[in-house]
Amino acid sequence: MDLQLTNRVALVTGAASGIGQHVALGFAKAGAKLIVNDVNAEGLAETVSAIEAIGGEAIPAAVDITDLKAVEAMIEAGNKAFGKIDILVNNAALLTEHKLYLDTDPAACEREIRVILFGSMHCTRAVLPGMVARGYGKILNIATDAARVGQEREANYSAAKGGVISFTKSIAKEVGRHNINVNVVSPGATNSPMRIGLQEALKETLGEAQWLAREEKVKRLYPLRRIGEMEDITNAVLFLTSDAARQITGQILSVNGGFAMVG
Ligand SMILES: NC(=O)c1ccc[n+]([C@@H]2O[C@H](COP(=O)([O-])OP(=O)(O)OC[C@H]3O[C@@H](n4cnc5c(N)ncnc54)[C@H](O)[C@@H]3O)[C@@H](O)[C@H]2O)c1
Repeated sequence: MDLQLTNRVALVTGAASGIGQHVALGFAKAGAKLIVNDVNAEGLAETVSAIEAIGGEAIPAAVDITDLKAVEAMIEAGNKAFGKIDILVNNAALLTEHKLYLDTDPAACEREIRVILFGSMHCTRAVLPGMVARGYGKILNIATDAARVGQEREANYSAAKGGVISFTKSIAKEVGRHNINVNVVSPGATNSPMRIGLQEALKETLGEAQWLAREEKVKRLYPLRRIGEMEDITNAVLFLTSDAARQITGQILSVNGGFAMVG
């Protein structure tokens, strides 16, 4: 299937590493131009180099998405540089603590909600007027199955992502008439550097044997008996932000090996 993303312009947040970086490269390979955002300027430079190395075009925007004014300036600069922004992928996120809710730090909780929920809302607020004016747009929000079915030790993170899911549905209803699709990709466990780092820390705490037993137990929760890879998420994002998915809006697509099957 040709997704026809050539000459589309996509803004991907949290694109300095992991899934966001992989998604940005996926867009570039499909012929789209990019604005890549992150607070990590060094990682962003790597993303831009990787995109240029395959003949793509990308502008880095080292902006904290919790700052609405900075987000507005980023979108204005992107619109100026490329004449439009067709696609927004709200991917940036933060999972600072892996603790029971009562043991979490309220300040860390607030930060997670600000980055995940307000960050996505700010980018949406800033990008929508241009999309409405042009009568074309795709907004894709990255959630998590932790928000769909609940996850102990991730209450703050899943609360923020649950907000993103509800926000997606409401905005999809508001802007559908302008030919703008708004959807969610909800990953299950996915082997990004963030997950691999968490697993390394866990291995140190539990010891190799106990960690391996735990990892096997985790895999048994997945009917496909596999932890996801970043390309699984990128494929779903590219599809949902293409016109091949033009009749899909307000939907949550889990990419999770069957971990959760939500009706
Ligand atoms: N890896 C998994 O197992 C998994 C599972 C479910 C959902 N997800 C989701 O997938 C997405 C990508 O996760 P990942 O594993 O690649 O994590 P990651 O930590 O590698 O990527 C997140 C990026 O967001 C950036 N970021 C954080 N705060 C920011 C801010 N204020 N402004 C701009 N950028 C900011 C970080 O610098 C980082 O580069 C996230 O939304 C995450 O919640 C991941």
